Amino acid sequence: MEDPHPPPPHKPVLYHEIINALAPFSGGLYIDGTLGAGGHASGILHASTPDGKLLGLDLDPQALVIANQRLSPFKDRVFIRQGSYVDMASFVKEIGWFFVDGIILDLGVSSIQLDTKERGFSFLHDAPLDMRFGDQTNINAASLVNSLAESDLANIIWKYGEEKFSRKIARLICQNRPISTTFELANLVKKAYGNQHSQIHPATRTFQAIRIAVNQEMQAIETVIPQAIHLLKPGGKLAIISFHSLEDRIVKSIFRTESKDCICPAEQPICTCKHIKSIKEINRKPIEASSEEISNNPRARSAKLRIAEKLNLA
Ligand SMILES: C[S@@+](CC[C@H](N)C(=O)[O-])C[C@H]1O[C@@H](n2cnc3c(N)ncnc32)[C@H](O)[C@@H]1O
Repeated sequence: MEDPHPPPPHKPVLYHEIINALAPFSGGLYIDGTLGAGGHASGILHASTPDGKLLGLDLDPQALVIANQRLSPFKDRVFIRQGSYVDMASFVKEIGWFFVDGIILDLGVSSIQLDTKERGFSFLHDAPLDMRFGDQTNINAASLVNSLAESDLANIIWKYGEEKFSRKIARLICQNRPISTTFELANLVKKAYGNQHSQIHPATRTFQAIRIAVNQEMQAIETVIPQAIHLLKPGGKLAIISFHSLEDRIVKSIFRTESKDCICPAEQPICTCKHIKSIKEINRKPIEASSEEISNNPRARSAKLRIAEKLNLA
């Protein structure tokens, strides 16, 4: 018999830590910029009963169907839109809000996306090479690997995958184009590795790099953080979970800059930048998942949570 209450397909990472960080209250306004299956969003709405409201954004129409269903009990307290978090200010305006009390970004790919074979995110399933989070762009993994110059491809695989065989992999890709499936790409990476031992599947880093490039993930993070800070009310919190050292580096660097009054070079005796701090970092060291959470959800292993609080800029 089919389970009438199947487990949700994506376990939200650092769930309690996010709810503690945002401390949602009734009447509060919240944004989940990476709604996914709505796990964090549902917690925020529960904690802000009876009157907190949430705007949920995701690029992925498949995730939005699941989130819509899961969040339907909250009725008119939820606003769900398909779109990028880089456009969150426009969505906030569209629903008639001005400033909000909390924002969460849980970056990267969801288990639903990884496990849906046809999405082409996983080297474990043979499928067309796609890897797009949403359907609003035509550039997918196949078009990228089949059109980029070998040196650009090698740079992407090195920069976003920290893959030591990036040049060899890029060369093999270019020699074997066109490449249209996940298995074709994974087999080329395996060939580049030859007999070299790897603790993880050899294609892990290359697939991660191509996915980051397809979805322009780093550029999106750089764009959204200043916008999110601007949208917060004084005392409002921005909580960001990253899964990759490059993501965390961007979050850390912007949080550090925005929590300082002067960002002139240290050797400059007089400030000329006139930069004014807009946030306070709640935790200088990122919060990581407990060993208990990691054993229940291995995806939590690389999660890092940074939290910032908007200052009163009066
Ligand atoms: C790790 S999952 C979020 C899971 C969610 N917190 C939950 O509890 O189910 C990340 C989600 O962010 C979405 N995403 C990635 N980049 C995005 C962007 N620029 N704008 C909006 N959503 C994005 C992905 O499609 C994916 O559904």
